[in-house]
Amino acid sequence: MLPESAPGYSYDECRATANWLLSKTEMTPLVAIVCGSGLGGLAEMLKDPVIFSYKDIPNFPQSTVHGHAGRLVFGTLQGKQCVCMKGRFHLYEGYPIQKITLPMRVFKLMGVKTVILTNAAGGLNQDYKVGDVMIIKDHINMPGFAGINPLAGPNEERFGVRFPCMSDAYDRELVRLAHDVGAELGFSDFLREGVYVVLGGPSFETIAECQMLHRLGADAVGMSTAHEVIVARHCGMRCFALSLISNQAVMDYDSREKANHEEVLETGKLRAVQMEKLVTTMVARMEHKSN
Ligand code: HPA
Repeated sequence: MLPESAPGYSYDECRATANWLLSKTEMTPLVAIVCGSGLGGLAEMLKDPVIFSYKDIPNFPQSTVHGHAGRLVFGTLQGKQCVCMKGRFHLYEGYPIQKITLPMRVFKLMGVKTVILTNAAGGLNQDYKVGDVMIIKDHINMPGFAGINPLAGPNEERFGVRFPCMSDAYDRELVRLAHDVGAELGFSDFLREGVYVVLGGPSFETIAECQMLHRLGADAVGMSTAHEVIVARHCGMRCFALSLISNQAVMDYDSREKANHEEVLETGKLRAVQMEKLVTTMVARMEHKSN
């Protein structure tokens, strides 16, 4: 028996959402920014904003998490047209994985070339401190090992190939740009580069899980971003992502620490301004070849 249709949205549904947005704004952004938990401040920095509530956008899921507003904001950042997701969708909210990644395909159809994603993550690397900002150089897609991949199901060739390459998921030029900009801004002390592992959540990890993830080569653990990157890469957009280390993952049985969402949001507030500065300066310096 053949699968009848993809469990997410069809090409035409993605197109309809993109056309609806294009018809309501004069803008054709080249850069999309996805704001993570407590990191929505970037969306406030857009000049001349045109704001849509997710609930008003055809086909868009709703954001259900505290700390994740549900708004899509179009505007200019450093003179460049951008679209910003204030609030994203997660597996643990109960959405099928194809739905939480819908915005990536909508952005592609609107003409976006580069996606910048931020998230809050637990630090597995023992050198990391709360408040560090990790440039994601690669990811480990744990749900993918169990067949939970946003590209599972019939492939839509108009977006990309059946078996997309992921060894270049995180754009190396943008990683270099982030280091350069970070150094100029005096952020080198808290700027790191590492591997992000995504889990389904919503429960935080056990101690044994954290130990295992670290041994597998992950520096930070979270519940987002990798799925969006897979879909964005499939349709040929460049990706760059940052994790704010909002808590130390608990790695030993003598620790009294407990991961909690309030800590995640508090750390976001402390480091948000610097992360925003890093991203806005990068956007100002980014080059987009027309093709
Ligand atoms: N684990 C998973 N996701 C997270 C964490 C964590 O410790 N912190 C912020 N998001």
